Amino acid sequence: MGARTAGYVAAAALSLATASIAGATQARAPIPGTEGCVGCHSGPAEKSYALSKHGVIARLEAGRTRAGAPPRAPTCVTCHPSQARRPATPHHDNPRARERARAAATATCGDCHAPRYVAVQLDAAARSLAIGEMKRREAQALVESARGDADPTASARIETLYASLVATDLRSLRLGLGHQSPDDQWWLGQAALDGSLLRIKGALSEARRDAARSAAAAR
Ligand code: HEC
Ligand code: HEC
Ligand code: HEC
Repeated sequence: MGARTAGYVAAAALSLATASIAGATQARAPIPGTEGCVGCHSGPAEKSYALSKHGVIARLEAGRTRAGAPPRAPTCVTCHPSQARRPATPHHDNPRARERARAAATATCGDCHAPRYVAVQLDAAARSLAIGEMKRREAQALVESARGDADPTASARIETLYASLVATDLRSLRLGLGHQSPDDQWWLGQAALDGSLLRIKGALSEARRDAARSAAAAR
């Protein structure tokens, strides 16, 4: 089998595995190495990992490695050693500790991947996150102008949309990038950010039209 065919077969097997895991995450036992974490991180953190290549391999190979041999793919505790030492919250009581934890999360990549590969991945992730951050700033500027132009109800609606852009879309993007999970990077990340930004723009222009209409009616 040529390298190309092998790659294709592997990709097909992976997408089948991904699809079945997507349907069955709830029903199955946690992936080994995640048990101490997913009770509290059952949302996007668990899902983005489970749907990543790392998570898929860890799930498929669970219990199949030779006794004593380390697992081939990383799990939560491989990449988050400080949280693994302190599973009770708060893991980190100050922002500097949090920054160190972030650095630690990427320090393990080189145990399994070539330095150049890791550098390319981390660069691409940083660029994608910067684009997400740009979208957030654009949305924030719209929220601020809504405070000036829109009536309180419309302005509150726009703030709610913005809050979900930050807490849901931008967080999915960050987790998707941190966990190499394509779904979270694209559909739940960048594409969702675009969608939320459009909804905010739409709500703002509607509010401006309404304001102009009632100003005209008042004249
Ligand atoms: C008792 C509940 C609980 C358990 C158990 C738990 N966490 Fe957390 N963790 C939290 C909360 C709450 C936060 C802060 C909010 C957030 O970022 O999701 C957090 C934050 C984090 C963060 C973000 C950076 C930080 O430290 O602030 C990482 C990474 C993390 N946890 C990893 C883990 C891993 C890995 C495990 C398993 C070894 C684990 N957690 C177990 C509740 C928990
Ligand atoms: C291959 C390494 C790797 C594995 C495996 C991994 N993580 Fe992460 N995780 C990261 C990186 C990198 C980040 C991004 C840190 C950043 O820049 O905020 C991250 C971020 C997080 C965050 C913070 C999200 C936020 O809102 O700031 C949480 C929580 C988390 N991981 C939990 C988990 C849990 C739970 C598991 C297992 C189910 C897991 N991680 C598996 C590398 C990993
Ligand atoms: C315990 C070993 C291990 C660690 C640690 C690890 N990986 Fe992996 N990684 C693997 C294996 C095994 C694969 C699957 C085989 C392959 O594609 O090379 C993989 C695959 C990948 C892929 C390919 C995903 C795809 O869809 O093709 C990326 C990207 C990746 N890793 C990035 C990282 C980054 C970034 C880190 C650190 C945050 C990291 N890995 C940490 C073992 C590891």
